[in-house]
Formats: sequence, structure tokens, C-alpha cells
Amino acid sequence: MFQSKIKGIGHYVPEKKVSNEDLTHYMDTSDEWIQERTGIQERRYAKKFKETTATMGAAASEKALKMAGVDKEEVDFIIFCTLSPDYYFPGSGVLMQREMGIANTEIGALDIRNQCSGFVYGLSVADQFIKSGMYKNILLVGSEMHSMGLDYSTRGRNVTVLFGDGAGAVLLGRAVEGENSEVLSTHLHSDGTHAEKLSFINPGSHGGYHFNKAEKKRDFGFSDSETETIFMNNHMVNDAQIYPEMDGPYVFKMAIQKFPEVIMEALNKNGISPEELKLLVPHQANLRISQFVQKTLKLKDDQVYNNIQRYGNTTAASIPIALSEAVAEGRVDRGDLVCLAAFGSGFTWASALLRW
Ligand code: ACO
Repeated sequence: MFQSKIKGIGHYVPEKKVSNEDLTHYMDTSDEWIQERTGIQERRYAKKFKETTATMGAAASEKALKMAGVDKEEVDFIIFCTLSPDYYFPGSGVLMQREMGIANTEIGALDIRNQCSGFVYGLSVADQFIKSGMYKNILLVGSEMHSMGLDYSTRGRNVTVLFGDGAGAVLLGRAVEGENSEVLSTHLHSDGTHAEKLSFINPGSHGGYHFNKAEKKRDFGFSDSETETIFMNNHMVNDAQIYPEMDGPYVFKMAIQKFPEVIMEALNKNGISPEELKLLVPHQANLRISQFVQKTLKLKDDQVYNNIQRYGNTTAASIPIALSEAVAEGRVDRGDLVCLAAFGSGFTWASALLRW
């Protein structure tokens, strides 16, 4: 059996900075509210019609390949993690393959839709492929263009102020024996009970089916019979349903419980204590969540990497962007223990322990 390691990493964020103040022109919010509740100061928005989730993924991937010293034609598998794909189908993985001019058709491209946990789920899948010997060089990408799909009216403010655009990528390859650098373990979890607590339900095949099962019925603004008729005709029912929806306080409560659990699962599995961790790179959901997790695990400030202040929540891209910045800043050296952890819609949550 082989071991896998991150051979190269890179990220791309669009140039355009959008401050909290900028958002006040569209919705009833304030810099003070956003910073106090989330820690976010600004986020990036991609250039509409010129950039997409796939093109940003390609830009990050080029950097990861360069750092790894691997040619794009040597990539034998692409894993693309996103909740904001260019198209409903096909996936952004093949669009990125085309964008990068990867001509090799022997490779596979897989899209992963596990939202905030997407990158860690993708890492786990990639790790298994490397371990089994099936693939040697896997391009694993997290990329999001949220700015195209948010509700900029006051109705959507609890979600819209959180999110930003960007991409991060790693080249996962075979570890060399004795090099002291590898993916040590990955841990994946899911619980569909709360699927609608953080969701974006259309377009989809649901036809209203799940709403009786969901804990919280949505307010569609229609009577039951009207809703049924509209669902049967398979039309989108009203514009509130074409945006993400979130029960923020509930998500927060679950996140601060699951993050420490899944981080400790990774540490315990490898017989490591929190003090031995060089860096925790949590999914950047909310600075308050990261601070809560840090306090729970009694980690020092320099053991946790946060950049949500500058980028907001970039979902599947947040961990690879943060890890890429941490590496560029010299926050991790060869052999250091690094933990990645995520929690998000689904709910799904996951962690990975790496020896850098
Ligand atoms: N600006 C001003 N006021 C706002 C805003 C805003 N942007 N958003 C909500 N409010 C108002 C609400 O309407 C509410 O007003 P009311 O009391 O008059 O009804 C008040 O602020 C408090 O709303 P809450 O939702 O209770 O605010 P809370 O303190 O919980 O903060 C937040 C909201 C920041 C969203 C928080 O719940 C949170 O961070 N939750 C977790 C979110 C998260 O992590 N999501 C992503 C994880 S998964 C993923 O990344 C896909």
C-alpha cells in the first residue's frame, strides 16, 4: 500500500474586494453587525461573465501543479469540490479540464458536492485512490463562485454577508518512504436529519416531497393546494426558493459541537494531543465558531489559522485557500502536524490529519 501526501498547493482569489460597507447599499445591514457576529471585514467577488467556478479552480490548480513540479498531462484524476458549479450538469471538473487544456482522456473527473466539508471529503477520496495504487497524481480542487447565487435584498442578509468567492487546489501524490510527510487519516460523518437547515433546494427533483419530513416546514407563501399544483407542474414556486436558506443559530450550535468532536477523533486516532498540533486549519464558516473551537481545545493563537476576515466563507474552497496561505507564510514546516476540519450543510462534517 502507498501513502499520499500534498506535493503542491495554490489558491486564487478574485481581485474585486467587497467590504461590509459596500453591502449596506443593497440590504439593511452594517459593518458593525457583520464584524461582531462573524469577524468578516470583506470578501472577494469574481468578475461576472469573465470568471467562473471552473476558471478559478484552474487558476489555483496551475499554482499547485507548479509547486509540485508536475505537468498537467501527468495528472491522472481530477476531484472538483463545489456547491456553486458553473452548470447544474455537467460538473465543473470537466470544465476545468477543458479550461486547463488537459488533453489526456485517460483521466477521470469527479465532482463532489459536500458543501463546506467538500474539500476534506475530496481529500479522503483522493487518499484512498493513492493508497490503493490506482492513481499517482490527483488534482483536488475546492472552488466557489457564490456571488452569482446570493439574495442581495434584506431578506437574504443573514446568508449573503457570510459568503465570498475563491479557489484552492492541491496536487496529491504518492509519499516517498522516509520523507516524513503524508496524509495520516481522514474522518467523515453525515446526518441527514437536518438537511434543510442549510440548503439551496432548487432546481431539484423534490417536488415538495421532503417538506413533510423536514423538521421545519418552509413558508412558501402559498396555500397547500397552490403549492402542490405548482410543484406538480415542476415550476419554481417563488423567488425566495431560488436562494440558499439557513437557520444560522441552529447551524452555529451544531458547528461548535461537531468541530471539536471531529478534530479530537483525528488526534485520538493518531495518538496526538492538541498541544502537539502545529496548525489547525478549520473551514472558515464564522470567526466566532473558530474561536469557540480554539477555546474548547485549549489551542494557542498561533495553532489556528483564520482568514475569514478577508475572504468570508468560501465553502469548499476555504480550507485549501487557508492552507495555501499558511504554507506561503511559513506557518508549517516539513514534518509538522496539521489538522483540517470542516462542518456544513447536510449536515456533514469531516477532519484530516496530515504530516506536512
Ligand atoms: N445584518 C443585520 N442584521 C441581521 C443580519 C445582517 N446581515 N442577518 C441577520 N440579522 C438580524 C436578524 O434578522 C435578527 O433580527 P431580529 O432579532 O430582529 O429577528 C438578528 O439579526 C439576529 O439574527 P440571528 O440569525 O439570531 O443572528 P446570530 O447572532 O445567530 O448570527 C449568523 C447570525 C452570523 C448567521 C450566525 O447564526 C452564524 O454564523 N451561524 C452559522 C453560520 C454558518 O456557519 N454557516 C455556514 C456553515 S456551513 C457552510 O459554510 C455552508
